[in-house]
Amino acid sequence: MRKTRVCELLGIEYPIIQGGMSLIANAELAASVSEAGGLGIISPNAGEPDWGKVAENLRNQIRKAKSLTDKPFGVNFSIQNIGEDRSLIDIAIEEGVRVVTIGAGSPALHTKYLKEHKVKVLHVVASVRHARGAEKNGVDAVIAEGYESGGLNSPDEITTFVLIPQVVDAVSIPVVAAGGICDAKGFVAALALGAEGVQMGTRFIATRECIANQSYKEAIVEATDTSTVITGRRLIPTRGLKNELTKRIQEKESAGASREELLAILSPGLTAAAALRGDIVHGQALAGAVAGMIKEIMSASDVVRSIVEGYDRIVAGL
Ligand SMILES: Cc1cc2nc3c(=O)[nH]c(=O)nc-3n(C[C@H](O)[C@H](O)[C@H](O)COP(=O)(O)O)c2cc1C
Repeated sequence: MRKTRVCELLGIEYPIIQGGMSLIANAELAASVSEAGGLGIISPNAGEPDWGKVAENLRNQIRKAKSLTDKPFGVNFSIQNIGEDRSLIDIAIEEGVRVVTIGAGSPALHTKYLKEHKVKVLHVVASVRHARGAEKNGVDAVIAEGYESGGLNSPDEITTFVLIPQVVDAVSIPVVAAGGICDAKGFVAALALGAEGVQMGTRFIATRECIANQSYKEAIVEATDTSTVITGRRLIPTRGLKNELTKRIQEKESAGASREELLAILSPGLTAAAALRGDIVHGQALAGAVAGMIKEIMSASDVVRSIVEGYDRIVAGL
């Protein structure tokens, strides 16, 4: 497989990143991806819905990952959760983490601080304007995420296929493609569009090492092409598996419900209900459109290996 600037930047063998995933990007998952030559990412609240305990949880998760792999791994921070507070970032720095991915907020807030502490920063963007802004603020690479992706989405709703080439043309730092990628075909396509690596989220939920509830993993394996939907366009657009909750939100939305009415349905515990307790009927089961392509629960290392193995075959057949 071709080495790219992303491999060099992160000190990894293959430019395949496991995206940060609130509540479920745990140490075992990250270590398995890193051991296979990709880059695993830990989310501070992996397995811990109580935000008051997240600092201790993050330290434990990092230490656990260090006990499982000597290879690099990273930590993801959502500015929506941490804002200007650097206490979690300081824990990652203290524990020797060398790569951070940051999303859902401005790159002006923490990039300089992280770089001063010799941490590589990858910022998640969903438009050319934000990619340029991230580059100007000194990030090392951007993760350009199309709206096929699971979890929070940009209101601009740009697909990965058209977002990546435009971002690649607009910045000179490496671009990592995210959203709608789960296998070697998607990886090759992303590189053809000019990306120098990929980040995947949904694919890694359906892995043995991921802490996500078994029912959630199985729902992803059972999903078809039409199984996901974006809801909350007037709050924060979020892609997840269609279920009773998304149906209720859609009904309210088409009846013209106010922000407050919608917020009343979306209690904060709903994501944990689906992700950790397996209530995929009434909880918020975040997943990307690519769920329809995921056919088995496998080991996270095998996900990386299958992309590496498939790469040469696909490129040779083009
Ligand atoms: C369940 C779930 C939770 C996510 N949580 C986060 C998060 O906390 N921070 C973040 O930057 N991205 C988050 N993402 C986005 C992923 O890191 C990744 O970029 C995205 O899943 C890529 O699209 P895909 O789902 O089509 O692979 C989440 C995605 C999923 C599916």
